[in-house]
Amino acid sequence: MKDLKEKILALKKEKNAVILAHYYQESDIQDVADYVGDSLGLSQEAVKAEADIIVFAGVHFMAETAKILNPSKKVILPDAKAGCSLADGCPPDEFKKFTDAHPDHVVITYVNCSAEVKALTDIVVTSSNAVKIVNSIPKDKPIIFAPDKNLGKYVMEVTGREMLLWDGSCVVHEAFSLEKLLDLYKEHPDAKIIAHPESETHILQTAKYIGSTAGMIDFVKTDSNHKYIVATEAGILHKMQQEVPHKILIPAPAKEDNTCACSECGYMKMNTLQKLYNCLLNESPEVTVPDDIIAKALIPIERMLELSK
Ligand code: 13P
Ligand code: SF4
Repeated sequence: MKDLKEKILALKKEKNAVILAHYYQESDIQDVADYVGDSLGLSQEAVKAEADIIVFAGVHFMAETAKILNPSKKVILPDAKAGCSLADGCPPDEFKKFTDAHPDHVVITYVNCSAEVKALTDIVVTSSNAVKIVNSIPKDKPIIFAPDKNLGKYVMEVTGREMLLWDGSCVVHEAFSLEKLLDLYKEHPDAKIIAHPESETHILQTAKYIGSTAGMIDFVKTDSNHKYIVATEAGILHKMQQEVPHKILIPAPAKEDNTCACSECGYMKMNTLQKLYNCLLNESPEVTVPDDIIAKALIPIERMLELSK
């Protein structure tokens, strides 16, 4: 493993590549990355990238976003099949029919969607800026929010805005069991539950803090409690624990029928250290986006980056 990590670091230097990784990537991948972050941080980092090659250790929509922001650079993804249930659940042709049926609505989409869907969008949001961006829309403007209905419901609750929601969800965050979570909390009444807003309302109602992956890490760093039950993908525990080595972090439990005791994203975990090495070596699989889609999708992404400053 050490050998493979060293080979990746050498190859990265030789090819003038940068490795951007999401918090849900396996620990070994996070350890070789130049930057590990949430979706907003990764987009902001992609804008700054000066390397010739961006290795995106995340899922396909994230690599597409990096490509839209850097059309002249080569963007590669360790496993081209690393998708996302939210992006898959919002096919562009069906989404177009939905937006065409509501032409007076401002179209806001969560970054977890395809480049084609972003091209049909007015403003993109991530979990860390969705509330702020929805609040920036004039009160008299009706809003479509897609594709995550759980994040949408949460934003509606916080902002008090009615929004027309697309019926999509994250399979990982919907896998949390409320019953098991409450049992776990009974065992650890001194813990604070923290949750990602892709989780269902009944899970969010138990949480003392709700935020993006980066927001959750910041919260445990600045909060005075010593124990947390963490309701998001388990990969976050690697960096979170490094930030608070003296605190106790417990992953929120998944429902019985899930394959692991905690919630892991099968798409994120398609990337492995070996695939990362192979993709850097072969500069493949490459993520490409047609020029006309880049031109259209860039506008709502840049609006988001501007509103996130
Ligand atoms: P953030 O890291 O932006 O909170 O997003 C979580 C997620 O599910 C990414 O797919
Ligand atoms: Fe998509 Fe959920 Fe996996 Fe994030 S955790 S990539 S939203 S399936």
